[in-house]
Amino acid sequence: MPGLTIGDTIPNLELDSTQGRIRIHDFVGDGYAIIFSHPADFTPVCTTEMAAMAGYAHEFEKRGVKLLGISCDDVASHKEWIKDIEAFKPGAKLTYPIMADPDRRAIRELNMVDPDEKDARGVSLPSRALHVVGPDKTVKLSFLYPACTGRNMDEVLRAVDSQLTAARHKGKVATPANWKPGDRAVIGPSVSDDEARKLFPDGFETADLPSKKGYLRFTKV
Ligand code: BEZ
Repeated sequence: MPGLTIGDTIPNLELDSTQGRIRIHDFVGDGYAIIFSHPADFTPVCTTEMAAMAGYAHEFEKRGVKLLGISCDDVASHKEWIKDIEAFKPGAKLTYPIMADPDRRAIRELNMVDPDEKDARGVSLPSRALHVVGPDKTVKLSFLYPACTGRNMDEVLRAVDSQLTAARHKGKVATPANWKPGDRAVIGPSVSDDEARKLFPDGFETADLPSKKGYLRFTKV
């Protein structure tokens, strides 16, 4: 997949948003941020996604993770659409900004274009892309979904929790399949057993596998 990917610095674009002018690096600041695109305002799946994200906003805030939406409609359209989103999910307040990218320059630079999804003029719409950006302004993980598939916010939160867990342990742990907070993590392959004993005073458990290579080690985090 060409374009912005894991490890790349997010372009420091400056765009109008529902909460004023935003420069992406300033917005990310010293923490983590999720920058996510949606194909168009006033469309069904996007409305459910935005409402779902509004409902999860407090979870991301608790973790110090900021939210930043983007689509190719303009700010006036976004502001009108927010009324629908909030009405669809009574009690929800859309507290995060949505950036406007009417000329679609930003979605190209952010690798958020869906070439299969076009507007009435035949111009490509944004995909449902999502980048988690770290304090160093690099992309830590990305989702890339097409217009027909709404994202699962539990999975976004789970992926963020995984990323924050790995970062807290300086990349010495990773999270296994279907991991969720509270589960054991695995110790990364670059960590020797000796180092692991120092790093994880509660110890670790090595899965007994036919290869006897001892590479699958679980530890509490
Ligand atoms: C939607 O949000 O439902 C949608 C947006 C663009 C294309 C297809 C579906």
